[in-house]
Amino acid sequence: MNPNKIVLVGMPGSGKSTLGVELAKQLGFSFYDLDTLIEQREKSGISDIFSAKGEGYFRKLESAVLKGVLLRDESFILATGGGAPCFNENMALINEHGLSVYLDVPLNQILNRLTSNQIEIRPLFAGLETGEIILKLKNMYFERQKYYEKAIIKLRGEDISTELLISEWMR
Ligand code: S3P
Repeated sequence: MNPNKIVLVGMPGSGKSTLGVELAKQLGFSFYDLDTLIEQREKSGISDIFSAKGEGYFRKLESAVLKGVLLRDESFILATGGGAPCFNENMALINEHGLSVYLDVPLNQILNRLTSNQIEIRPLFAGLETGEIILKLKNMYFERQKYYEKAIIKLRGEDISTELLISEWMR
């Protein structure tokens, strides 16, 4: 496990990308966003990949791209998609190569963030009414805990700061 390969995991809306960009700046590491790397490789947006080829195809691609990043010989912060740790033994792979950090943002905060904005860019919620989105998010939150809980560092809070993350990372 390389502590300079920091992998952020957690629900959609938990702030992985926002925190990751800031953290990378502060530590002088590279920043990668797994969804962006997938889009670059596939030359297509995440929503289009889901609708044209299905979630199964996306999950395979996600695992392959994840592996490629984890094997890079450099210091980086990687923001993963919310589902990435929950498929194909990806969490074991993450923990083998890098330092996983779970951003455990309370469910009500996630619900607030995702139902007020950002929802249209997330294919898992495409075409759903607000009530259905809330139900789906709640189910995902509870089903995914067992994967997220395997993270080496777990940080809980509404707004997890880079300072908190860095202090845990330096322990
Ligand atoms: C997904 C989360 C998304 C993206 C895809 C699937 C999920 O990333 O990877 O839409 O299964 O939770 P974010 O967590 O950045 O929204």
